[in-house]
Amino acid sequence: MNQQQALQQTFEHARSCFPSLGDTYNGHPVLFFDNSAGAQVSRFVIDRVTDYYIHRNAQKGTIFKRTADMQQVIVEARQLAADLIGAAGHEEIAFGQNATNFFHLFAHHLGRDLTAGDHIIITEADHHANVNPWLELAERGIRVHVWNVDEYGSLDMQQFRELLELGPKVVAAGWASNATGTVHPMKEIARLAHEAGALVVADGVQAASHLPMDVKEADVDFAAFSTYKIFGPHMGFGYFNRGRLERLDGWKIQKELGQDAYFFEVGSQNHEGIEGFIGSMEYLAQLTRDAEGNGLSLSGTPFDEAAPGRRGTAGAMHFAQLYEQQLTAHFLERLQAVSGVILYGRPADDPSARLPVFAFNIEGIETDALGRALDEAGVEARTGNYLAISLMERLAGPFGGGALRISLVHYNTIEEIDRFFGILESALQKLK
Ligand SMILES: Cc1ncc(COP(=O)(O)O)c(C=O)c1O
Repeated sequence: MNQQQALQQTFEHARSCFPSLGDTYNGHPVLFFDNSAGAQVSRFVIDRVTDYYIHRNAQKGTIFKRTADMQQVIVEARQLAADLIGAAGHEEIAFGQNATNFFHLFAHHLGRDLTAGDHIIITEADHHANVNPWLELAERGIRVHVWNVDEYGSLDMQQFRELLELGPKVVAAGWASNATGTVHPMKEIARLAHEAGALVVADGVQAASHLPMDVKEADVDFAAFSTYKIFGPHMGFGYFNRGRLERLDGWKIQKELGQDAYFFEVGSQNHEGIEGFIGSMEYLAQLTRDAEGNGLSLSGTPFDEAAPGRRGTAGAMHFAQLYEQQLTAHFLERLQAVSGVILYGRPADDPSARLPVFAFNIEGIETDALGRALDEAGVEARTGNYLAISLMERLAGPFGGGALRISLVHYNTIEEIDRFFGILESALQKLK
């Protein structure tokens, strides 16, 4: 079996772990292509949530066994989140409602150390989850600067260097775009930002469902992730670089209450979701074992010699990235043959640094009408701006700042892509 076949076999099996992917709608097998908004969950997650309700459903903060077991599970889940993204350990992770809440929390805590006239950089490429919390600081006289993209939705590094000369205190930037699938050079962004004395708040939400993440290697200071986009329940978690936390005056005031990131898990948490998240990481660990059983190897990657938790989770994302490159190349090849197509982000003949996330319009076709026609045939795909509001206004202005988005992950298949293009062709014939 060559590498391509081994990847196909591994991910065909991975797909069979997701009961919802066998659904039908209107008599059609569903094509679930809205993964950038939220992915489906595997049996591992469903079983873990059920198990939680039977054996560990309790409130924290007392001594009986059910509570102790539940608390242990939360630490285990934080450790797995740390493993997935390459954090130092569970002390650097806090769970919470979603990524957006973490960006508000970062802006609140970092904002306590800022005064009128201080500078912050946000980007035109970001989901507004990592834009609006910073814009709110402008009300206190903090100067918020927008770092722009070029015509392909890539961040303009020259403009970044110029903005850094202002001596900003914070740079808030996305790791990958949820609209164009463009992967931004986060390591380079963090290096330049740190040289200028700024802290870096990264939006890791989109990248984490497609790539092995390494927050230490990229050297970001704070980051937020959505568990429901990494095959888990509807929640999020934050990464807090412990060394950098110490720099915050606001944090120093709170310090006697505890030094770990989970201080930020304020109030009661979604315990069933947190245990479900463990299921999503167990699924990834199983995926790594399956891939290796099929002859794929982690040798030569940073994950081969890593501790088991990191090896299992990030290792799976390494294989997922390889497989997704096949999906990306195939999708772009088929898309190029569609007449009148306008693809946003990198051009179709340049799949480099792009995730299998494709926002596009078709000349002369109303996007929502196309979305509805696809829905009737079982294609679950999103139209609109996906809250990458500024980016889509910039790229897709003539279409009202919106586009159809097909977003794939590792459980999607080449066969699904081919089926989609057949459905698209029929829909376009009807709409023209
Ligand atoms: C890049 C990006 N950042 C942030 C968010 C918001 O995440 P959450 O729903 O967890 O707040 C999304 C959701 O689509 C996203 O794609």
